[in-house]
Amino acid sequence: MTKPSAAVPAVDLADEAAYLEAVAQARKAADAYYGSGESGLDDETYDRLLRGITAWEDAHPEQIAADSPSQQVAAGVTTGDVEHTVPMLSLGNVFSDEELTAWAVSLERRLGGAAVAGWAVEPKLDGVALAARYRDGRLVQLVTRGDGTTGEDVSHAIGDITGLPMTLTEPVTIEVRGEVLMTEAQFAAANDLRTAHGATAFANRRNASSGSLRAKDRVYRIRQTFLAYAALTDPGHTDDPTLAGLAHTQLVARLAALGLGTTADTPVATVACSTLDQVVERVREIGALRAELDVELDGAVIKADSPADQIRAGMGSRTPHWATAFKFPAAQKITVLRAVEWSVGRTGVIAPRAVLDPVDVAGTTITYATLHNPADIARRGLMIGDHVIVYRAGEVIPRVEGAVAGLRTGTEQPIVFPEICPRCGADIDRSQERWRCERGRACGRTETIRYAVARDALDIDGLGEKIIVQLVDKGLIEDFADLFILTRDQLLTLDRMGNKSADNLMAAIESAKTKPLNRVFCALGVLGTGRSMSLRIAAHFGSMQAIRDADAVALEQVDGIGGEKAPVIVAELADLAPLIDKLVAAGVNMDQPGFVPPAPTDAGADAETTSQKTGSEPPLAGMTVVVTGSMTGPLAGHSRTEMTELITRAGGRASSSVSARTHLVVAGENAGSKLDKARTLGIEAITPEELAQRLAGHLT
Ligand code: IVH
Repeated sequence: MTKPSAAVPAVDLADEAAYLEAVAQARKAADAYYGSGESGLDDETYDRLLRGITAWEDAHPEQIAADSPSQQVAAGVTTGDVEHTVPMLSLGNVFSDEELTAWAVSLERRLGGAAVAGWAVEPKLDGVALAARYRDGRLVQLVTRGDGTTGEDVSHAIGDITGLPMTLTEPVTIEVRGEVLMTEAQFAAANDLRTAHGATAFANRRNASSGSLRAKDRVYRIRQTFLAYAALTDPGHTDDPTLAGLAHTQLVARLAALGLGTTADTPVATVACSTLDQVVERVREIGALRAELDVELDGAVIKADSPADQIRAGMGSRTPHWATAFKFPAAQKITVLRAVEWSVGRTGVIAPRAVLDPVDVAGTTITYATLHNPADIARRGLMIGDHVIVYRAGEVIPRVEGAVAGLRTGTEQPIVFPEICPRCGADIDRSQERWRCERGRACGRTETIRYAVARDALDIDGLGEKIIVQLVDKGLIEDFADLFILTRDQLLTLDRMGNKSADNLMAAIESAKTKPLNRVFCALGVLGTGRSMSLRIAAHFGSMQAIRDADAVALEQVDGIGGEKAPVIVAELADLAPLIDKLVAAGVNMDQPGFVPPAPTDAGADAETTSQKTGSEPPLAGMTVVVTGSMTGPLAGHSRTEMTELITRAGGRASSSVSARTHLVVAGENAGSKLDKARTLGIEAITPEELAQRLAGHLT
């Protein structure tokens, strides 16, 4: 999960020489970043460098280099030929809750000590800023941000951008501002077109957006997406009187009503928050939703919602004082592609996986990443030895976005594609983008069942390969769970199977039902878990249900499971759910004998004492509870941490996001999307007052 509070440390600059070198390095990267080229620095490294530069400049204001990227919007890189009548500003950054609070305090100081009337929180879209000018409802001009004062006319892209209709729903004159970006499908299509015309694939989506916008004489059209986040609302710039005096949240709704693309109908829509706690919660929600979206985010933007506050706070030379960006830990890093491995999944899909030089992406060391399918590798023109951009924004498995062609040395080698199924040697079905073994699910079936019944797993004596092959060929079993419903008569239909062997085998299968959980878990063949890891997992959780209930964070508590493996296990278990259900139905043991639950925490110990005292189960025993909105009634003023302690004391488990595994949602004032989601999922929602009633006796 994304942790937006992780701060990015600054690069430490010792002296003026180091400072000037840092400026030169940042300049080069900025030229590439804001141009259509490729930067050799990833975002996080660039941010750290810029922070180091600013820190040094704060200490040595008389020595600031004229060309320092800290001095200008868009690092002063691009200039165009269309003037922005109102400058297109940049945003300041914060990287932690503490920095956000400090920024809010300084904003309130600018408001003369008054509290901010309300906040708007929305995603920081990771694309290219664009101004779109509509005259009498018709789209007439597109201008890039450029240096903030003048931008480049890119009106040739009119008609290619979803979210920027040729005509609005009303004939108004207005300048709308927002971000142009590519969805995953648009990026794939852009690279297809580009490589088909002999050009190298784009390294990532932002490069693709910027490059595609600016290329004037292309013979083909590349589709992109626009999402609006601002408009020039004063009467000098628009003839739409309804815009005057709108809060930011209302403005976004109005832009959507005019037919423009906004985030309004996405889970990360702009929301109004009344307290900074709610702002922080929404920032986290946006961070957690990152992986589910079709567009890329690199943070959240927090804005004073009311125009009165915005005007009072005013603008700095480069950034508004009334808005800031909460940057998420960089989701993209550059590393080297060392090899490509081909694995065959349960359904026979042959999937390429990149083996990378280990790299830390958003707090997790990444050594493997998905390459989707062979067509995708070809489209991206990847080679072994390439510097590649690895992307991970909370997805189960990180992905390779593209190669930085500018860093090629000429020693890169082509990627070799398999000729036959790497698992069973059968032919490959290449009729779709995803290649499959021609044998489909049958590929590897025998092998998987052999693994499940082997000595380290279910240890079913007398069930050798020949018998398994016959059982599979005769259609008597599809997976090892089917073994438990085999009849003696069915066994007797097999070659060289006598009464005695059949009886012995039936007995061996029957006794496998009582094997400890670690053996059953091992039999599942979950990727990344062998015999000893299965034992550790079983000993930690005690039951199959507890393992299935665990999320990646819970799995990381098991010795040897890290941030890379945990989400893979969660995904594997979801994939294996039907098989596990079959095993449960067949009466196979799902518990670890002698399981001792982990030592209770202090809060847990309290819960135990309380239940012992009263002699009854704690009121939230076994329940996963999500708290949202501000607490009222007897719980008014309770912070999230206090709520978590309370829930734990009452035997429950507090979680921050609503999912099918949530049992109860406590919805306070201004509860937002979590309550909506709970309703959609049919999860019980109660007020803080109702919770207080249920927990009478646990409130301290
Ligand atoms: S508001 C006066 N809102 O981030 C306020 N910008 O680093 C100016 N961006 O140039 C910008 N999402 O390209 C705003 N929700 C959002 C945004 C956003 C992405 C971009 C925009 C801006 C850059 C600043």
